Amino acid sequence: MENKKQLTPKETSEPESYYFELQASWGLTKHMGGLNATRELIGLCHIDRDSYVLDVGCGVGITACYLAKEYGCKVVGVDLSEMMVKRSRERAKRKNVEERVEFKIGDAQDLPFRDGVFDAVICESVVAFPKDKQKVISEYARVTKPGGMWG
Ligand SMILES: C[S@@+](CC[C@H](N)C(=O)[O-])C[C@H]1O[C@@H](n2cnc3c(N)ncnc32)[C@H](O)[C@@H]1O
Repeated sequence: MENKKQLTPKETSEPESYYFELQASWGLTKHMGGLNATRELIGLCHIDRDSYVLDVGCGVGITACYLAKEYGCKVVGVDLSEMMVKRSRERAKRKNVEERVEFKIGDAQDLPFRDGVFDAVICESVVAFPKDKQKVISEYARVTKPGGMWG
């Protein structure tokens, strides 16, 4: 039987976590390529209004809220940081997309979802941070529906 080790936030992303807390307090997270890169990723993952999407390491929820607002799809954002999740929920309220987007605390290395749930799993500027990158990739594959996309 697989011996599944539970990772604590402390084991996953230090010392970056201090920087992320600062970013969360500013209410701002970014990734390389900005909105153009996000649009390209959305296209490559074939996301449309019928998609159920997971955004891993969602930061302050910019992409998740953008997807819910502009594409009308249902989105779940997860992030290791409680403060990022709080900021994301505030953003969803401000953008009026609370019905289509939800946020959870979660670790990319041990995603809190059943197998094969999402049509698309996306992440932007996240994989560099967790220690076990192979586990991150296998988690993306695990929670994606057969025939779904992740990237
Ligand atoms: C550079 S920010 C990018 C945020 C967002 N994707 C964006 O593009 O604006 C990296 C994010 O990954 C989150 N993160 C780092 N390690 C993580 C992990 N193991 N699981 C989930 N989120 C993680 C951080 O808390 C932070 O919000």
